[in-house]
Amino acid sequence: MQQVQQGATSGAQSAPASYPFDIQRISDVMGAEIIGPDLSQPIDAAMKDAIYAALMEHHVVVFRDQSMTREEQGRFAGNYGELENHVGRLRNGERYPTINDITNRTPEGELVPKLVNRGPYFWHSDKSYHEIPSAITMLHGIEVPERGGETEFANMKRAYEVLSPDMKSRIDDLKVVHSWEANRITVGETPATEEQKRERPPMTHPMVRTHPQTGTKALYLGTHFDHVPGLPRAEGDALVAELMDHATQPQFRYDHTWRVGDLVMWDNCSLMHRGSFDYDMAKQPRVLQRTVIIGTKPF
Ligand SMILES: [Fe+2]
Repeated sequence: MQQVQQGATSGAQSAPASYPFDIQRISDVMGAEIIGPDLSQPIDAAMKDAIYAALMEHHVVVFRDQSMTREEQGRFAGNYGELENHVGRLRNGERYPTINDITNRTPEGELVPKLVNRGPYFWHSDKSYHEIPSAITMLHGIEVPERGGETEFANMKRAYEVLSPDMKSRIDDLKVVHSWEANRITVGETPATEEQKRERPPMTHPMVRTHPQTGTKALYLGTHFDHVPGLPRAEGDALVAELMDHATQPQFRYDHTWRVGDLVMWDNCSLMHRGSFDYDMAKQPRVLQRTVIIGTKPF
């Protein structure tokens, strides 16, 4: 059992003096590897709470060499709240199942040589266009490319902390409208249909959100950005572009290189993320089994 120094990572609000597992940081910016638990098996309350505390402290936690069926991943995820239904639809129009795959394979197993759904490959926080966005996302590496295809993270808490007092006072009370429809255009997807617009209306959230558990502040942005209410369009666009450029600089980033068996779990309230499509999709499968936990209304 490794002793973890309380408050060693910025934002540690409730880190226990020790965890019931070994834990190692995986970058200076964020992220820790948790060594020991077999997540295919039920975990007790103490383990559940310790994993959550580690997540709050490090924002991203990684478990290596896991082997979980869909049901086992669903059971593990369910420790942390209600599983979220995916908003998207399969090609046949049906809803995605709650435990779904990010995959470049067709249902028949063929590799698709180009991106089918571009949105996940641009910076975002999951479901920011919902009134109640996602709290925690978990991806389990089933098949991963030999190189490339990372999942990249930007630490929005740290990016906020280092802003000048002037910038903080400028943005602290601003709102951002997040729009699935606008995102389709921003990322180069086919425009939303009328039905999709009705299903996913634009949503207004604070530009700076307060973490519902730790009380820390973080920028809340992403490519679902549509506009800043109360500012002229050009001014709001320029402000958000400046903050996005700031927050995605290397000093705020951790890029996760996938191994088969990884379970990566992250806190959407503190981070943005995106997938990298710099891998050979025609030859390399990238299949990540996903579960998402519903969050709370940002404030
Ligand atoms: Fe995502």
